[in-house]
Amino acid sequence: MAHRIGIVGASGYGGAELMRLLDGHPALDLAVVAAHSQADTPVSQLFPNLAGAATFDHVDLDVLRELDLVVLATPHAAALELGGRFYDAGTAVVDLSAAFRLSADGFLEWYGQAHPRPDLAAGDPTAAPDVAYGLPEQHRDRIRDARLVANPGCYPTATLLGLGPIAGLLEPGSVVIDAKSGTSGAGRAAQDHLHFAHVHGSLTAYSAPGHRHTGEIERWLPGELGAVTFTPHLVPMSRGLLATAYGTLTEDATADDVADALHDAYDHEPFVHVLPTGTFPQTKALAGSNGCQLSAVVDARTRRVTVTSAIDNLGKGAAGQVLQNVNLLLGVEETAGLSAIGVYP
Ligand SMILES: NC(=O)c1ccc[n+]([C@@H]2O[C@H](COP(=O)([O-])OP(=O)(O)OC[C@H]3O[C@@H](n4cnc5c(N)ncnc54)[C@H](OP(=O)(O)O)[C@@H]3O)[C@@H](O)[C@H]2O)c1
Repeated sequence: MAHRIGIVGASGYGGAELMRLLDGHPALDLAVVAAHSQADTPVSQLFPNLAGAATFDHVDLDVLRELDLVVLATPHAAALELGGRFYDAGTAVVDLSAAFRLSADGFLEWYGQAHPRPDLAAGDPTAAPDVAYGLPEQHRDRIRDARLVANPGCYPTATLLGLGPIAGLLEPGSVVIDAKSGTSGAGRAAQDHLHFAHVHGSLTAYSAPGHRHTGEIERWLPGELGAVTFTPHLVPMSRGLLATAYGTLTEDATADDVADALHDAYDHEPFVHVLPTGTFPQTKALAGSNGCQLSAVVDARTRRVTVTSAIDNLGKGAAGQVLQNVNLLLGVEETAGLSAIGVYP
């Protein structure tokens, strides 16, 4: 029998992308597509690609908590409240926001707010055992047994996939991440700096230093690499994210060690592909997919390794990874409804 799931925040970019992915899923029945201000709006009025869908539902907690699983695709403030309520009711939750990714202390530091449910803060060592950080390539077993999964941020996903396997080969304090995202990363709401006339033909950094994803990257990078420098950029494209991460190799580490670590981590993974050294991933190749392509080069002059990793911010960076986590949590084939192959050109 199909598992019945619902989305809260279906009228946003992440939620609507999940609606697209769930169309025709072999084991999941999308029973509720709830919106906030857009409840009762025809889905195709906001998302013309979803022409067959009806109208957005209202958020009805009594209906939602009867489902097998609820995906929260809302701002973190709404998820903080809803996540705890569903968890307490025994309904499984996968949350796309930052509400449950950090420790309670980390949440206070980076989001300026006391966490209302430290027991559900995935980054806390004392968090409930059925709470997981949803990066399957690094936390798969915990996700399988979870009741609440905190889906990673888009920048942390690309960065952690690139740096995670080689973290033990790097000097503490040497990591710098320079990342670029298309404008859908900022959500559907109209904002002045996201107008076509502002973004088209332009490139800019933002929120540096101290972008909130810095804390998430530091929390979930394996080992003791210490503070990282992270600078995000806005690029004139709808979707796609490229993270370029730099670190200095320890004295005894070699370029072969880097290549071996990446291949050991990913050669058996369905969604992460290591490209041959000297070829570099491009965002377009991942569009619409749950894939991540990455490659590493080592500069012998500086002992610095550069890892570039590309994802679709709405795919592996959001809805695709949500579906991967939903599949794992519900015991469905992990790859169901997903592909690592993007739309190209
Ligand atoms: N966009 C990305 O690439 C990306 C990647 C990773 C993670 N995320 C995270 O995923 C979440 C959703 O992002 P998004 O880009 O999809 O945002 P979005 O396009 O702005 O959509 C936000 C959604 O949340 C709903 N919502 C707002 N306030 C609500 C409330 N109080 N109660 C219930 N629903 C509420 C909105 O409903 P109405 O429109 O009906 O008002 C809308 O459906 C955010 O936390 C974001 O940080 C986004």
